[in-house]
Amino acid sequence: TTHPTLITPDSPTQRVGDRPASQFVSVRHNIPLYSLENAFDFVELSQWEDRWKRNAIDVDRADYICELKIDGSAIALTYEKGILTRGVTRGDGTTGEDITQNIKTIHSIPLRLNLSDPPNMLEVRGEAFLPIETFEKINKEREKAGEQLFANPRNAAAGTLRQLDSKKVADRKLQFFAYTLHHSKVTNDKDGIPNSQEKALNLLQEIGFLVNPNRQVCDSIEFVNNYYQTWETKRKNLPYLTDGVVVKINDYSLQEKLGFTNKFPRWAIALKYPAEEVPTLVKDISVNVGRTGAVTPMAVMNPVFVAGTTVQKATLHNLDRITELDIRIGDTVVIRKAGEIIPEVVRVLKEMRPKDAQPYQFPTHCPECTSLLVRSQSEAVIRCVNSSCPAILRGSVVHWASRDALDIRGLGEKIVVLLVDNNLIKSVADIYSLNNSQIASLERMGERSAEKLIGAIEDSKIQPFARVLYGLGIRHVGKTIAKLLVEKYPTIELLSQASIASIASIYGIGDEIAEAVVRWFKIEANQELVDRLQQAGLQLTTQQTTESNTSQTNNSLTGKSFVITGTLPTLKRSEAQELIERAGGKVSSSVSNKTNYLVVGEEAGSKLAKAEKLGIEILIEAELLDLLRKYY
Ligand code: IVH
Repeated sequence: TTHPTLITPDSPTQRVGDRPASQFVSVRHNIPLYSLENAFDFVELSQWEDRWKRNAIDVDRADYICELKIDGSAIALTYEKGILTRGVTRGDGTTGEDITQNIKTIHSIPLRLNLSDPPNMLEVRGEAFLPIETFEKINKEREKAGEQLFANPRNAAAGTLRQLDSKKVADRKLQFFAYTLHHSKVTNDKDGIPNSQEKALNLLQEIGFLVNPNRQVCDSIEFVNNYYQTWETKRKNLPYLTDGVVVKINDYSLQEKLGFTNKFPRWAIALKYPAEEVPTLVKDISVNVGRTGAVTPMAVMNPVFVAGTTVQKATLHNLDRITELDIRIGDTVVIRKAGEIIPEVVRVLKEMRPKDAQPYQFPTHCPECTSLLVRSQSEAVIRCVNSSCPAILRGSVVHWASRDALDIRGLGEKIVVLLVDNNLIKSVADIYSLNNSQIASLERMGERSAEKLIGAIEDSKIQPFARVLYGLGIRHVGKTIAKLLVEKYPTIELLSQASIASIASIYGIGDEIAEAVVRWFKIEANQELVDRLQQAGLQLTTQQTTESNTSQTNNSLTGKSFVITGTLPTLKRSEAQELIERAGGKVSSSVSNKTNYLVVGEEAGSKLAKAEKLGIEILIEAELLDLLRKYY
């Protein structure tokens, strides 16, 4: 009899996890994942053959199996008694992240193996990837939602696998090709235990995996080269990206004899295809002003299909690059895309240049706000430095609303352009005073979508301080740096008053970043922005909510008395005092038996001796910060 209510780990309802994982757990691989040595042509391939033959001593030929090298993300799957129990990312090859919940949403991965007598433990490896079409669809949706685009299907696959919400993973429709079976005794009885990669792949297919059909056994290295050349063109019609061919010695006993170097198997090599290069015509050179004011030149070209997607714009990086290439409107250029979404111009085909083509003149004024462009001595970048330039404003708002910053769904590029063009916002802070009717009046927006957007903007007010800080778009302050900063400076006041030396003393932060932060806070318009964001109710401290503050008064530092002595390594005396007072503590100037803590820095004098005599707890700065962290 069956139990309809019983949910086993392989039941189809288990495909989507019900609770988003809070974070992934690092786990050690049962068997390490090796990577492959690369070869780029027949010569390097033959050298590899010579090498393995020398290692094998008395073997002078072998059958090879060629497989397409799928451009995705490697995954290790564990099956216990035929049931999928664990899925782990490649990570560094020794440890990866446990993404079992997400793995279970991939329909080409069986939850239960089609094996009558499954072994206790079996491991399968393969490549998770996104078909090109799905990738393009995802990026279109992300563009609409104002989210950052994935650079290529590989990044999209890797990003998807690390999604915390497995429902979203299920929506993305990842695929999986299996290519390695790790078990010595798995058999379907009919063909016995596989003694070659070819047989292992067939077996993987029989027990329920999707195996790439374009594999081929070759009895010589010349045949391998044929396969490689055939697929160089044929691969362009595949619905997924391949960046080469993996050549493996077919026979397991020879594989075993050859073994591994400390990085690679000696019995396999990746024969890679060169990055695809395609010629096209430059119709125009346009410049784009980013949120930092950086002016980036772009070649606008006749659309061409390259490495899986259609492209019509290529970055020209900066003026130096343009001068070096001597690229002109009307030129035919070769573009390359090494898997990236924005391709680059490799060279100009000068012999095809029209006679009347003129050298390109870089604009002297901002195409958006007409102010004079500036080139600083130290960098190749040319910038618009007008802080009210609409292009900078648009970029800043899009960044503010992006997923890793304030995560305001629905506030994407298109809406931002409309808001700026219609003069509804002149600063990031202005989005917090938008009302329903203003948004509803915009092109293609209705009452409902306006309401939703207002809701999303409102919701962003509870985003933590670190995200707000990242959202401000201070140069060099990415997500990680923002987190480090709020750890040391739990309020924006403290951060805005911090010195370069104090900021740069944080492990992981250097002078350049520290200078950028200090410079940012010196600008009056930025101070004003911070004030307005504070008024709007954004989180500018690491304190959670007023509620939790009150509940914390019980165990806060209320009534505790501190004395600070000596020079602290990073905090100024006044900064330390402010932090203590914010947590409810008191700071006095002399040690007595009422003192609870003595905070000591360098060259602490008689106060330290006195405190020690009285048995008062001594804290160094790091310990003080640890203590305070509990109350913020
Ligand atoms: S075999 C020890 N086979 O390529 C054997 N790898 O550059 C190691 N890959 O990390 C892997 N398709 O992510 C193998 N048919 C295939 C592959 C493949 C793609 C990836 C895999 C690996 C990387 C090595």
